Amino acid sequence: MSDTLIAPEVGTAEGSAPPKRLFIKTYGCQMNVYDSERMADVLRPLGYATTDQVEAADFVILNTCHIREKAAEKIYSELGKMREIRERKIARGESRMTIAVAGCVAQAEGEEIMRRAPAVDIVVGPQAYHQLPELLTRTARSRGERIGADFAPSEKFDAMPVVRGVKGYAAFLTVQEGCDKFCSFCVVPYTRGAEWSRPVVDVLAEARGLADQGVREVTLLGQNVNAYDGEGADGNVWTLATLVRALAEIPGLDRIRYTTSHPNDMSEDLIEAHAEVEALMPYLHLPVQAGSDRILRLMNRKHGRQKYIDLIGRIREARPGIALAGDMIVGFPGETDRDFEDTLDLVRQVNYAACFSFMYSPRPGTPASTMPGQVPGEVMKGRLTALQALLTGQQTAFNQGQAGRTLNVMFDRKGRHPGQAVGRSPYLQSVHVDGADHLLGQIVPVRIEQGSQNSLKGTIVGS
Ligand code: SAH
Ligand code: SF4
Ligand code: F3S
Repeated sequence: MSDTLIAPEVGTAEGSAPPKRLFIKTYGCQMNVYDSERMADVLRPLGYATTDQVEAADFVILNTCHIREKAAEKIYSELGKMREIRERKIARGESRMTIAVAGCVAQAEGEEIMRRAPAVDIVVGPQAYHQLPELLTRTARSRGERIGADFAPSEKFDAMPVVRGVKGYAAFLTVQEGCDKFCSFCVVPYTRGAEWSRPVVDVLAEARGLADQGVREVTLLGQNVNAYDGEGADGNVWTLATLVRALAEIPGLDRIRYTTSHPNDMSEDLIEAHAEVEALMPYLHLPVQAGSDRILRLMNRKHGRQKYIDLIGRIREARPGIALAGDMIVGFPGETDRDFEDTLDLVRQVNYAACFSFMYSPRPGTPASTMPGQVPGEVMKGRLTALQALLTGQQTAFNQGQAGRTLNVMFDRKGRHPGQAVGRSPYLQSVHVDGADHLLGQIVPVRIEQGSQNSLKGTIVGS
């Protein structure tokens, strides 16, 4: 959930005109990271090359997140900074920088953005990124239009360039958009719309394209990715498990992951795929949000704690040693100390390898925001601290438990020290190895020497 700066490449503009510079700042989930890459793809034919220097940019896009209040408010202060940068540039005699707001804040608060931040030229919702070239042209003529909140996701994907400008060996691939679950605290069903799965042929074509460009690990994305029900070439509906099996056949694609999943959509065939498909990595992000049945009901999660615990048991039976990850919310309206104890107890039973935890944030328009019993900030803070202490302990223990094992590591970037490379273990841990920078893009057995809270250290087997 950290902010990510996307700077895939510089200097791909065609012809002799100097390239125009595109700066994209990405907030929120991996689906936004994917969308930012795709926006760069859409704009590349117009002569835009990405830059990580905002001062150099002709076009700035903030790809925003609306999930918690802080995430949304950040955008307004960021827009203030962008406006100052633009004024400095104009004072230097440079061309006027265009500013766009994309993503879930654009979808949820488009009108408000225009009112509160008049410097914004374009507001574009998540299903309309293929319209960016047209929006840019129109912006040059008339400023201040809000466009593109109401398109169907199918149009977005159909209109995007087939070839992606990926860099590196691990890539995201969105296979599903939207959410029909309506958890009572969550804005996603409102910002991303109804669940929709991309057709299988499109997904396979994009995956083959990625493999051709050297990608070895692909993470399938969707707000509820395990509810995937795309149309197959045979006209039948494919499940995520069927899709994973087909992707595993693509030469070069050695590793497959998917995120995020809902417990109620964790079907038997998907659990079986974890047992049988070697390329499907032993890591699963399966959020539960709370450990109290009463709170789960108020959250409209449509499952209880025991169902989740049993499910975890079945998954662990199918793939022993699988790393389990999750998300937790503390301070949901009405949450008592007793309910919170149930959350701690569930966390102890599951024993997560990694888990995100958040203080409940009331979101306008969601049912929970007007529920009685809103929990005071101080109480939430105390609970979050206690929960995070427990989760940090579990994560550290999981990582330390890898010491002495040999894990296959896919090296995907250089480390901070000369000669060092950093890769990913099957469990999605970062692994630092000295003298390995010649191994980028390769999957190599590494003997793990040490595990700490956030990463592992090891040596190449045989070196
Ligand atoms: N589709 C994913 C989650 C998307 S949002 C899923 O169902 O697992 C990512 C996480 O943000 C959620 O899992 C939840 O833990 C957290 N979150 C969502 N809405 C929130 C809110 N109003 N306040 C605090 N955390 C929230
Ligand atoms: Fe939000 Fe719930 Fe949908 Fe996840 S499943 S995106 S938490 S509504
Ligand atoms: Fe945020 Fe939208 Fe993702 S609200 S978490 S960017 S779907």
